[in-house]
Formats: sequence, structure tokens, C-alpha cells
Amino acid sequence: MDYSIETLALDKQQTDCIIVGIYENAQLSPAADLIDKLNQGVISQLIKRGDIKGKNAETLLINHLPNSSIDRILLVGLGEKEKLTAKLYRKALSSTITVVKTLKVKSVCCTLVDIELKSSDNTWKTRQIIEVFSDVLYLFQNTKSIKDPATELKKVTISVTHESKAQAETGLTQGIAIAKGMDLTKLLADLPGNHCTPSYLAEQATNIASNSNNMSVEILEESDMQALGMGSFLSVSRGSRQPAKLIVLDYQGGAKDSKPIVLVGKGLTFDAGGISLKPGAGMDEMKYDMCGGASVLGTLQAAAEMSLPINIVGIVPSSENMPDGDANKPGDVVTSMAGLTIEILNTDAEGRLILCDALTYAKKFNPEVVIDLATLTGACIVALGRVPTGLLGNDDALCADLIQASESACDSLWRLPIWEEYHEQLKSNFADLANIGGRDAGTITAACFLSRFTEDFLWAHLDIAGTAWRSGGTNKGATGRPVPLLSQYLIDRANA
Ligand code: BES
Ligand code: MN
Ligand code: ZN
Repeated sequence: MDYSIETLALDKQQTDCIIVGIYENAQLSPAADLIDKLNQGVISQLIKRGDIKGKNAETLLINHLPNSSIDRILLVGLGEKEKLTAKLYRKALSSTITVVKTLKVKSVCCTLVDIELKSSDNTWKTRQIIEVFSDVLYLFQNTKSIKDPATELKKVTISVTHESKAQAETGLTQGIAIAKGMDLTKLLADLPGNHCTPSYLAEQATNIASNSNNMSVEILEESDMQALGMGSFLSVSRGSRQPAKLIVLDYQGGAKDSKPIVLVGKGLTFDAGGISLKPGAGMDEMKYDMCGGASVLGTLQAAAEMSLPINIVGIVPSSENMPDGDANKPGDVVTSMAGLTIEILNTDAEGRLILCDALTYAKKFNPEVVIDLATLTGACIVALGRVPTGLLGNDDALCADLIQASESACDSLWRLPIWEEYHEQLKSNFADLANIGGRDAGTITAACFLSRFTEDFLWAHLDIAGTAWRSGGTNKGATGRPVPLLSQYLIDRANA
């Protein structure tokens, strides 16, 4: 999709369809008012007739305008003017593009930057238009021989005033970069486990690095991990025929000596549970157990595309978790790179086993902060549902920064505690710690486990089990979260 900004007068724009917002109680946005006056009051008449009320996400297409230079007008309801929020604004954008993608139009002009929204500037609105449009337009076709019909839409022009042009341009750059990062994350996540293996993820990371001047990649093989003593990570991959990879992307956008932000993403390209085998129903969705890793790749690509003036390291430990004669067995004790021994009471708690070694490895980059993201626990979905990502960490300031970024990116987070009382649940009779802490507080005990490996730096953990993909039915698919949140956090750091 081609996204651009245009300051030409609305009646001078070359487009197949112009998108304008209206509110409830017959209030028109500035663009709607102008278009109305240029077209003999057609919008006011339709409102008066009751054909559209202006409720949020309501749409009405006017597709025949004799004597007008405009081909089509798409009216979009925003709801009550005083009650418009960022979420409602995004909802209206989503219904807009859902209608547009089915129309016989190749280009649209979106005027919705002119909508007033408390505490949101033109950068934010421009960026949201691109993020939401791109999200709805995403269509996975890679493994289909019979393709779904593609939209005819090729070009989205975002119309802005001269005064808002500078802000909108920033939003355009950010929106395009983040949307592309989300697309990449969703594509990698939606690819099935027999296509998207650890080796495939490593190849994709290599491509991302080669498309940027400031990024290098290193792929650590199992022999390298052996030499580093990553006994915990390697114990998981031992049960799989696919060789594990430790992917390291190094983006140098900042000063040479400035400490990097390190992102660590769980990259389980398929999690069958291992010997503690998962039940069959819905097991296909465990191809999504690499969403943390895919989000790290998508976020680094976006950061590079925005040329953020900071240093960022992305680490993706990638493996399968399969049942096999050589797989981990319940009761096995392994030794992590940090030296701590771990009793594996459940082989399905494998994410923390690969993450702990990757987190230990992160130390070598002398990080400013380390943020890991992982589809780590089903318990997170029980606790928080599929609305916010779970946030846990050892530093209040870092957690506060992430929450602030999540609010402006509309990619929500909710913090859970990792108090010392919970650590009791990880006690083992035969090792330094156990890899599970029983039924209670599963998301917290998983984070407690990770926290034993992150004592030397500022660290936050994002449990994205409920937010990285939509589950079940025909709506199943990756969401691209938390790429918007992480991108916002990095933009904020770059501006700090
Ligand atoms: N990848 C799963 C977590 C998961 C489950 C994410 C369902 C999304 C939906 C993880 O590896 C896992 O299996 N965790 C176990 C931990 C348990 C054995 C302590 C879980 O959540 O059941
Ligand atoms: Mn598992
Ligand atoms: Zn898993």
C-alpha cells in the first residue's frame, strides 16, 4: 500500500473516494462541512433523512454525485463529539477501512486527521490511520494455492492542513515503519511450524540486517551454545530434529558507547509440550509460540526504518519443543549458563528454559535495560484475558515507562507483582530451582523464575500469551502486538 500526505484543497485531490467524519446530532467535521457545501448539502440531507446517525463506526457510502468533481464520499460516524476517545477513533478507522477494502476503488483520501481528539496530536492521528488501515488490510496468502480476492485499493492519501504537515510527516514515517514491522511479525507468526522453523527465523533475521546499514546479525549454532554452557536452552532443543538457533540482531543507531536496549523474544516455532504433551485440541495454535521472537524482529526492522538514534540489540532463542526419545523428561535436572541448576518438573514449561540462557547472554551487551517478550503462560489469559499484555519486572521506572508507551500506542499492559513470597513456589528438593510453581499464580511464578537470571540489570517481562494472536475459529491469526508498544517505547527513549 502506498501511504502519503497531501495538503491540496479537498476538491482538488485526485481520488476515487474521500473519507470524512461526522458526529452524532448532525455535527460535521471540518472536512465533512466543506464537502457538504461543495456538493449542494448532500451530507446534511442524508443526515436529515436519517440515513446515517453518526454513531461510532457507522458508515455510509455516497457513490453517485452528478455534477461533482468528487467520485465517492464515505461518511464515517465518530459518535458524540465530546465522548470521542483514542480507542473510539481507532474503532472508527477500523470500520472505515473494512468497508473501503471491498469497494471498487483504487485510491482513497482520508481526512480524519482533522478530527479533534484530546491529548492526541497530528503525528498520533496520522500514524494511527496507517497502523489501523494496514492491520485490517493484512491478508495471509503464503500457504494458499487458491488465493482469496485481493483488495483493489493501492493508494491512501492522508489529507492535512499546511499547519499540521510537519507533525503529520513524522506520523507518516512512524506509521509506515510500525505497520511494516507488524506485517512482518504477523506473517512470521501465521506461517505454520513446518515452514517457519528456527533456521527460517534465522534467515529472516539475516535479511532484516542486510536491508539496513546500521544492523548486523549473528546466528549462534548449537555448538556455540554448548561452548557457552547453555544447558537449559539446549535441553529443550534436544527433543527436536530442527537445530536450535540463537539469533542476535545488533542495531547501532546511537553513539558507539551508548548502552543498548536489549529485547529478548521467545522463539518456539512449535510447542507440543514435549514429554508433558499438550492435549490435541487447539494444539495447532502452538505455532504461535514464536510470537515474542517475531515481535523482536518486527520491532528492530521498524526501529531501523525510523533511523532511531539509539542502540538496540534483539535476541531470539529459537527452538521446537517436541516429544522424543532424547527429549527432556519430568524430573531431569539441567544446568543453565548462569550456573543455576533447574529441575524440570514439567517439560511444557519450556519457554523459561530457553529464555533464562538468552537473558544470561544479554548481560554481555552491557544493557541499559532488558525487556523480554514471550507467549509464556496460559495462566496469563486466565488472569487478564486477551486485552492487556502482562507486565512484570524488577524496576518501577522501567515498568512506568512501558505503561506510558502502551497507553499512547493503544497496545495495553497491566502490571502484576513478583513479590518474594511467590518465590517459595519454585523451591526444589533436587536443584537450585524448579521450572514450575504449581497451579496458583502461574504468570507470576514464571516471571519469578526469569527474575533469578536478571538480577544484574534493569528488566521487564511481557507475557503476550493472550495478546499475540486471536484464538480459534475463522478469526484466528496473529495480531502483531506488542510491536506498537515496543516501537513507542523506543521512540520515547530516542526523544529522551
Ligand atoms: N507456550 C505455552 C504458554 C501458552 C499456553 C501460551 C496457551 C498461549 C496459550 C507455554 O510454553 C506453556 O506451555 N506453559 C504452560 C506452563 C505450565 C506447564 C506451568 C502453561 O501455561 O500451561
Ligand atoms: Mn509449553
Ligand atoms: Zn511454550
